[in-house]
Amino acid sequence: MSSLLLRNIRFLALAETHPQASYAGTAMQHIPVMEDAFLLIEKSKIANFGPMETCPVQADEVVDCSGRAVLPAWCDSHTHLVFARSREEEFVDRIKGLSYEEIARRGGGILNSARRLQEASEAELFESAWGRLREVISYGTGAIEIKSGYGLTVESELKMLRVIRRLGEKAPIPVKSTFLGAHALPPAYQSDRKAYLDLIVNEMLPRIAEENLADYVDAFCEKGFFTVAEMERVMEAGAKYGLKAKVHTNQFNSMGGIEAAVAHGAVSVDHLEVVSDAELEILKSGQSIPTLLPSAPFFIGGHYQPARKLIDAGLPVALATDYNPGSTPSGRMQFVLALACLKCGMLPEEAICAATLNGAKAMELEAELGSIAMGKRGSFVLTAPLPSLAYLPYAFGTDLVERVYIDGQCRVDKRSVFID
Ligand code: NIG
Ligand code: FE
Repeated sequence: MSSLLLRNIRFLALAETHPQASYAGTAMQHIPVMEDAFLLIEKSKIANFGPMETCPVQADEVVDCSGRAVLPAWCDSHTHLVFARSREEEFVDRIKGLSYEEIARRGGGILNSARRLQEASEAELFESAWGRLREVISYGTGAIEIKSGYGLTVESELKMLRVIRRLGEKAPIPVKSTFLGAHALPPAYQSDRKAYLDLIVNEMLPRIAEENLADYVDAFCEKGFFTVAEMERVMEAGAKYGLKAKVHTNQFNSMGGIEAAVAHGAVSVDHLEVVSDAELEILKSGQSIPTLLPSAPFFIGGHYQPARKLIDAGLPVALATDYNPGSTPSGRMQFVLALACLKCGMLPEEAICAATLNGAKAMELEAELGSIAMGKRGSFVLTAPLPSLAYLPYAFGTDLVERVYIDGQCRVDKRSVFID
């Protein structure tokens, strides 16, 4: 089908006549929203949109969207979607009083996932990750970033990255791949950290570059994981192969990770549960997108990200799920929006902007996705009837995604008929 016309859209969110790469600060609450609008897709791309009075009369397929909203598909710029097994036993341990860090120190956490992943075959990993990818597309995700980091050996990191590549080849949505060899120190290297860093730099990265398996490089800069200097070494080594950085920092402690990542020119700095005033100034001076993952503190406890402070400082905040078996076993962006509003003080429009265009920017996909703009890919969410855009984060438990269109094709349709 070559043309698709959506008519009578109640709210067309992020309909940009003058496309921007991202929105920052107060602009995030003033994203363009068109009421009573149409959207025309031709040959998988956005060909026109505007007020209903100017709606074209014909198209190959016409969809009536009365009462409904159309939003750009979610751009989830931070996930660990490839893993071998869930970790609900740690969830129970936390209910009993252990902390995420204590579980990690006992060899649980990331190392637990690494042991399981090392034992799993590439085919098994692909199958389970493919199921999760289909699931998140059904929630409206139209672009995703996926990290390695549960391999922690040369072969297992390559195995994970090959799975991510295959997911990208099979999926209808863009998949960005990030090498996270510096996720946790494997037990065999406990007394020789430098040897593991050498392995990342001298063996993993050259193989990854040779097979063209990653778009970005990442490191978990945190007490008990990797130091600022170690993260810098990984970012610099990645840069030699053309890999830009997207890093985990300031999840539990502020130890200089933001400063190092911004100075390096990281595309994004992610987590940011803890941000000092000095670090806020550093973020303002740089280009890295502050990417907040509020499902992580929701699930493991701890501080929620200071989104209000970051946005009021004029920054272009992005939101992502962090989907992983340890700190966030959920890839549902609508729930992330609800947490961002309820727990981080974001306004609904800010959360929508952070989960779409600013997320696209955090994956360098803003030229093709993230907003409703001429020539961009026709990837969007059609909601159930709703009274306002604020209803999306408000009705946090209701699945308001009725259809998901990817490149102009309806990939998910939940409009169902109940038998009374
Ligand atoms: O982003 N914090 C580091 N990495 C993941 C969690 C990994 C895990 O617990 O398996 C995160 O939260
Ligand atoms: Fe993460």
